[in-house]
Amino acid sequence: MNYTEKLHELTEEKFSHIPLVNVQTFGCVQNENDSEKIRGILAQSGFGISDSFENSDVVIFNTCAIRENAELKIFGNIGKLKALKAENPDMIVAVCGCMVMQPHIVAKIKKSYPFVDIVFGVNSIEELPYIVYNWYASNKRQISDPVVKTDIVEDIPVYRQSRSKATISIMYGCDNFCSYCIVPYVRGRERSRKPENILREFRQLVSEGYKDITLLGQNVDSYGKNLDPQIDFADLLSMLCKVEGDYVLHFMSSHPKDITRKVIDTIRDNPKVSRQIHLPVQSGSNRILSLMNRRYTVEQYKDIISYAKEQIPDVGFSSDIIVGFPGETYEEYLETEKLVKEMNFTQLFTFIYSKRNGTKAASLEDNVSHREKSEWLNRLIKIQQDIFFKYLESFEGKTVRALVEETKPQGYSARMANTLVVHFKTDKKDLMDSFVNLKITGKKGTVLTAELLQ
Ligand code: SAH
Ligand code: SF4
Ligand code: F3S
Repeated sequence: MNYTEKLHELTEEKFSHIPLVNVQTFGCVQNENDSEKIRGILAQSGFGISDSFENSDVVIFNTCAIRENAELKIFGNIGKLKALKAENPDMIVAVCGCMVMQPHIVAKIKKSYPFVDIVFGVNSIEELPYIVYNWYASNKRQISDPVVKTDIVEDIPVYRQSRSKATISIMYGCDNFCSYCIVPYVRGRERSRKPENILREFRQLVSEGYKDITLLGQNVDSYGKNLDPQIDFADLLSMLCKVEGDYVLHFMSSHPKDITRKVIDTIRDNPKVSRQIHLPVQSGSNRILSLMNRRYTVEQYKDIISYAKEQIPDVGFSSDIIVGFPGETYEEYLETEKLVKEMNFTQLFTFIYSKRNGTKAASLEDNVSHREKSEWLNRLIKIQQDIFFKYLESFEGKTVRALVEETKPQGYSARMANTLVVHFKTDKKDLMDSFVNLKITGKKGTVLTAELLQ
């Protein structure tokens, strides 16, 4: 008997009800994709899925380590579980994900958070039935030091909450070692899934009616390195687009050093691929980009974007920016500001540099005050807000297609392939999870408003 079956049997004996698990995601889409696997594997072991930790028998925090404030927030939330655990000692409190891939964090949990029962790493999801079984069997804390693994485990069941939107990991880890970034240390070396396994999962999703499917990787443009037979990301896109069905295919993230003209041409030739590309630039200064180990220049970044705009007139780019990298001068920040004004990004995610122990940048001298960094951040946010409102206004009067995501009083909320949210009113029922044609009538805050055309 395997541990999924053993755990199932054990919980059937132990509980008079179906035990519930609540998984909370604190990180990025990849982290959420892992949460879906955690839910999937525990559902297979006899657990029900709960949306709240209050009545759950197992609470799992899937954590993120990308910035210090992410970690502080998570520790705050873990702290809140102490009282709950005191009331209900049988409840399992587990912490997993990127944050616990750092030995100093595991040591801190061991010492200062005695009510945390289980800690498991990002690549140990398939061991979860074994770990939970052991906790029930021994009532002993299951905390081991993180091991960064390199193998790929296929066929972990995935529990998807949405009936229309899904993500597929096409690769794991990262080899880029951008000097500020913790991801390569916590997620390990880059490895790509075999195309046939991705295709199988993709076909399955399309046949189940999923309409918005996102391919995930820290750097999707380097997909396929070391795979035999040879395949690159553009080939994978072309292969997946041959699957018949009504869907939009997204991917994230792209890396400016690796996105090729072939990828752009493939998007141009396949209307099922979203015309919205997330291409994080991080900085508008070549000196800072080089210190960040990004391995492209502002000029190269602009070149690939101009090429894409030539080939795909309705393409849009979103981006990430870090302000206040160690040693960044005000003049260098101004170069970023200039680039943001010039690029007309459809969306911009802006961050203040956060020192991550163990990364290259952590040893660089950082002499810019936090106050100044916050000022730069706020300036960028304001500039982007104006750009975004103009972008929203550019849709007025246009007819668009969007996927209905949520019911609203007297109507629905839908999302366009470019990720913009549109609200519309209608008496029609049963529009959830289907594509609709809408005529944009205006905007309300950061969302568009529309009339239903069909
Ligand atoms: N692999 C993706 C995204 C990684 S994390 C990529 O390379 O695009 C998402 C974003 O978090 C990054 O693009 C970067 O802007 C930001 N980020 C990463 N490490 C950071 C740090 N130490 N401080 C501040 N922001 C950081
Ligand atoms: Fe981090 Fe750079 Fe890898 Fe993105 S590409 S995950 S920023 S190291
Ligand atoms: Fe994602 Fe955070 Fe890990 S951004 S890869 S969950 S460090």
